[in-house]
Amino acid sequence: MASVQKTLVFDNVAKHNKIDDCWIIISGKVYDVTPFMDDHPGGGEVMRKATGKDVTVDYGDVVHSEKANQMKQNYYIGEFDQTTFPEKRSQIYNLKKSL
Ligand code: HEM
Repeated sequence: MASVQKTLVFDNVAKHNKIDDCWIIISGKVYDVTPFMDDHPGGGEVMRKATGKDVTVDYGDVVHSEKANQMKQNYYIGEFDQTTFPEKRSQIYNLKKSL
């Protein structure tokens, strides 16, 4: 990992909300999962729906394995600036609603 960590703000992260350009926020870190869309065992669409939100809880609820947690390091692109997260509760991803 590079020694200088990039800090990313919500509006920048949320722009990447497409199947071919997909960034997600898990536990204060930002991941560019674009190269992983076709290979994700849960499918690409579930990750696209996880954009523009903090998906920490749902990522945990799915109970990803230790292997999955290690895989996600491959897609880490920077720290998320939590102070830029919108107040609105609707920004929080609800897996049950969107499946
Ligand atoms: C960098 C991010 C992610 C990685 C590396 C990842 C990786 C994986 C892996 C390896 C599995 C297979 C089971 C396991 O080994 O745990 C899996 C399953 C799954 N993932 Fe993810 N995942 C990521 C993000 C997400 C997100 C954001 C969601 C949605 C909230 C999600 C939803 C699921 C679901 C629903 C399954 C179960 C698929 C099934 O068994 O039918 N994943 N993921």
